[in-house]
Amino acid sequence: MKKIILTGDRPTGKLHLGHYVGSLKRRVELQNSGEYDDIFIMIADAQALTDNFDNPDKIRDNIIEVALDYLSAGLDPSKVHIFIQSQLSALTELTFYYMNLVTVSRLERNPTVKAEIQMRNFETSIPAGFFTYPVSQTADITAFKATTVPVGEDQLPMIEQAREIVRKFNSLYGETLVEPDALIPKNTVCSRLPGTDGKAKMSKSLGNCIYLSDSPEDVKKKVMSMYTDPGHLQVSDPGKVEGNTVFTYLDAFCTDADFEKFCPDYKNLDEMKDHYRRGGLGDVKVKKFLINVLNQELEPIRARRAEYEKDIPGVYQILKEGTEAAIKAADATLAEVKAAMRINYFEDSALIEGQQARFNK
Ligand code: TRP
Repeated sequence: MKKIILTGDRPTGKLHLGHYVGSLKRRVELQNSGEYDDIFIMIADAQALTDNFDNPDKIRDNIIEVALDYLSAGLDPSKVHIFIQSQLSALTELTFYYMNLVTVSRLERNPTVKAEIQMRNFETSIPAGFFTYPVSQTADITAFKATTVPVGEDQLPMIEQAREIVRKFNSLYGETLVEPDALIPKNTVCSRLPGTDGKAKMSKSLGNCIYLSDSPEDVKKKVMSMYTDPGHLQVSDPGKVEGNTVFTYLDAFCTDADFEKFCPDYKNLDEMKDHYRRGGLGDVKVKKFLINVLNQELEPIRARRAEYEKDIPGVYQILKEGTEAAIKAADATLAEVKAAMRINYFEDSALIEGQQARFNK
C-alpha cells in the first residue's frame, strides 16, 4: 500500500514556534525522508471559516502568510503539494455523504470540539458547520487515502472520528477508504510549547508568541521578557528549571553543539540546569544563550522567506499547482466513493442496460 501524508493548518494567523516544533519541522523531515509516495499539505480555509464566517478577509489574508511560513520552514513544492482546501469541491461532497455515518451524540462527545465550543463561548448557538467540522476533516484525510496524518495531540479525537467513519463506510459500501494513523510529536515539550509568558500555549490573542517571521530583534526582545522562575531573584539564588519557560524552550531547541558554539562553560543542557538549580547562574546568561539558539534556527527560515517575499505571484502559482494536483487526487477518490455508494448513474453502463432489460420483460 502507498504511504501518503495529509495534514494542514487553519489560516487564522501567522505560524509561530509552537507550530514549528509541534509540526512544521517534522513535516520537513518527513518530506526529506523519501519514505512517502505523496505528501499533501492543506491550508484549511474552509475549516477556518466554520468559526470565522463573519470575517472572511482575515482568512483570505492569512493564506499567503501560512504559505510563506510553510515555504520558509523548508517545505519544498517539488516534493509536497501545498493546496487550498476550499478549492476542492470533492471535499464538500464527501463531507455531505459522511454526515450520514455519524450521529449527533457522537459529535457532541468529541473532546476537541467540546473544548473549542467552550473557548469560543458558543454555548447554545453553535454553528452547525463548526459542530460538524470533524466530518469535514474526515473528508480531508480520506480524499487522499492518507495513511499518515502528522498532527498535534489535540487532534487525536479527529483522527479517531475519521477512523470510525472509514470503518463504517467500508463495512456498508465495500472496502474503499483507508484508515489513517496519527503521527504525533516525539516528545511532550514539542507537543505543547508554552507561550513566552509561561501560559500553557502560544496564542495570538494572548500576545505570547514568537513568530517564524520575527526579526532577530523581535526574538531578542521577547526572550529577554520571558517568564522564568519568579523565586529566582538574585543570581546566587537557587532556581527552578521545571515550569521555567526559558528552559522549556531550550529543551525543545538546543543541542550539545550549541553549547560549544554559544556557551562553552557547559557541555550540555543538563550541566546548565544543574548550575541554575544550585544557584549562581543568572537568567540573563541563559536568555542570551536561548536568543542565539533560536536565531540560529530561524536564520535559514528568514533567508528563504526573504526570497519568496520578492515573488508573491510565484507563491500563489505554487498554491495553484498544488491545488490542481490535490483536486486530481480527491476527485479520483470521490468517483470511487460514488461508485461504492451506488450513485454513479452515468458511469455505469450495466445499470442502464439492466434497467432496459427489466422493462423489456
Ligand atoms: N484541525 C486542524 C487544526 O486545527 C487543521 C486541519 C484541517 C487538519 N483538516 C485537517 C489537520 C486534516 C490534519 C488533517 O490544526
